[in-house]
Amino acid sequence: MSSEGMSMASIENLLPGGSGFVFGGDYNPEQWPEHVQDEDIALMVQAGVNLVSVAIFSWATIEPARGKVDFGWLDRTMDRLHAAGIRVALATATASPPPWLTARHPQILPVDIDGRTLWPGGRQAYSVTHPIWRKYARRMAERMARRYCRHPALALWHVDNEIGAHVPRDYSDAAARAFRTWLRRRYTSIDALNEAWGTAFWSQRYSDFRQILPPRRTPTTANPTQQLDFARFSSDAQLDYLKLLIDAVRRHSPLTPVTSNMMIQTRYRGSDYFDWASSVDVIANDHYLDTADPEPHVELALSADLTRAIAGDRPWMLMEHSTSAINWQPHNRAKRQGEMLRNSIAHVARGADAVMFFQWRQSLAGSEKFHSAMIPHAGVDSEVWEQTLRLGDLLRRITEVAGSRVVARAAIVFDYQAWWATDLDSHPSVDVTYLDQLRAYYRELWRLGVTVDFVHPRDDLTRYDFVAIPSLYLVRDGFAARLTEFVEQGGTAVIGYFSGIVNEEDHVIPGGYPGAFRQLLGVRTEEFAPLLPGERVLLSDGTFATVWAERMGLVDAEPIVTYEQGDLSGAPAVTRRNVAGGRAWYVGTRLSQESLASILESALGEAGIAVGRHIPGLEVVTRTHPDGTSYVFAINHTDREVALDLAGEDMLSGHAATVERDHVEIAPGGVALVRVPRLDSDDNRHDVRRATEQFTRRTRAS
Ligand code: GLA
Repeated sequence: MSSEGMSMASIENLLPGGSGFVFGGDYNPEQWPEHVQDEDIALMVQAGVNLVSVAIFSWATIEPARGKVDFGWLDRTMDRLHAAGIRVALATATASPPPWLTARHPQILPVDIDGRTLWPGGRQAYSVTHPIWRKYARRMAERMARRYCRHPALALWHVDNEIGAHVPRDYSDAAARAFRTWLRRRYTSIDALNEAWGTAFWSQRYSDFRQILPPRRTPTTANPTQQLDFARFSSDAQLDYLKLLIDAVRRHSPLTPVTSNMMIQTRYRGSDYFDWASSVDVIANDHYLDTADPEPHVELALSADLTRAIAGDRPWMLMEHSTSAINWQPHNRAKRQGEMLRNSIAHVARGADAVMFFQWRQSLAGSEKFHSAMIPHAGVDSEVWEQTLRLGDLLRRITEVAGSRVVARAAIVFDYQAWWATDLDSHPSVDVTYLDQLRAYYRELWRLGVTVDFVHPRDDLTRYDFVAIPSLYLVRDGFAARLTEFVEQGGTAVIGYFSGIVNEEDHVIPGGYPGAFRQLLGVRTEEFAPLLPGERVLLSDGTFATVWAERMGLVDAEPIVTYEQGDLSGAPAVTRRNVAGGRAWYVGTRLSQESLASILESALGEAGIAVGRHIPGLEVVTRTHPDGTSYVFAINHTDREVALDLAGEDMLSGHAATVERDHVEIAPGGVALVRVPRLDSDDNRHDVRRATEQFTRRTRAS
């Protein structure tokens, strides 16, 4: 039952009586004496927790020795939670094999690129392709489903846990065999594979699929298409494992929705989640802040927007984030005052209908004992618990927001496969990375107050007025034609450098760069001229180019910014072309933040998206119901009070914002949520645009 098959599966179906926000976290009662559960559950009720994820890492507790199974503690946990009205996202308990299993079958252990075995003693020590592991994991998932399929607390199946997190690529012999099978299916003949991999180069021609290996450590750089295919295969192999467990669960529990927590954020690129999306009923994401990032809320917004794209614009679950510090980065600071609340609301603003945490009660032992939780080491007499109660209260007050959607007129093209390909070795500059430009564009759009959707190259572009393509080295078949059509129909596109270079096989599109987009952009580059570390070149707008430059010729485009120094003096760096009804911009260098912001602002203006005066650090996003009722979320990430003109009703009184008739004041670090009534028009989407634009234009700092 895919998401298409189970169209009724939505987050609101997870709660008894329908609508509202899901609130809760990972609950690991096996770490505690059983009597602690009474206190746990009383506190969950006090906080308004309505869903907990149970049994994620419980295999070794359920089956401590081979065939010695004890479900008693889990039965009692499920019953107690049910008696308290708390629903359960029940795991398949497969996230980590028990020691008896890896001791008995060490061949299931994964292997890294250097041939080193990844041993048990941590977690996720399994190879998703190994038939023995697959047999055991499937059997465990079936066992869980058989036993609990009719339990009244069961709301959702939580399959495995962050599949691929620690082993995004497995180079074991089992993986090698599965890779060959995958390649046979993809290419049918060895000749087709040789062609795609360009094996005429460096004497790499294969005469049999049996000769092929994963791209293990080679004397020098490995074949790029082989590397790319291995990344594709690895994502597919994890997905295949997910499907194996989903099938196992559905055999016994066909009516309960299924999810698996993904890691949709810039820190993880192991899985092409766009390909995974239709296998689960609800998209669930885990998100953790990067402690070293000076603006972690911008990356949070990016992750949430990307999750919404993978969810096909439907509401999604924030399955895990943290109440405060995490424990697995070099430095793990506690969250700042109000930061947990701002984080939670920012996810909700961008489409989350569930706010959950890792974990309920902070562990006293094990690797994650310094990871925060809803109940910290300090106990309930603590700021963290206070904030947990506050969040629960807040989510109850905004119940009516659940189910509403975010509407955007601007989009950013995102493709995991382009990410993998861009970051391969042997390219013109190691400083050209997929994330560098993706983040740069997203950050400026965020600062300009423009809500963006992420779109996959396969997606329809025509519902947008503006499309940014920060980095798209690898271009899917047909995308350039569809982008051209979008521009010809009046759209505005902004394309970043080192885009349009290769096809899906990582073969260069010949005739001059940027191959796939050359015609649309009206430019032609013969050679790249990347800049050295620390090198910068003055541009005609007074800012400096870094990282990238190219010898670009104008064929049918106007120069907007030119180089003012050195070899490229007078040559175009940023160009623009009027195309039928629309415009195509090319940003052929790495611009400063200031310069990129100004280019984006001009292009957005041409697309009819006014950005007006904005307050850096004020995040504003709107969610809308089909009846036109809109909810404007305003999150003040600055350390000053901000005020904005906005007519509507306050939904969060007392949460650091004052809402008067048409005026909202938000304290430093505060959050406002304003219900904007339906405007008169048949076209609700249009109403939202107007409301948002009006709002954005009239925003002002106090
Ligand atoms: C991941 C895992 C959790 C926990 C958290 C800690 O998201 O799914 O089990 O380890 O990280 O941040």
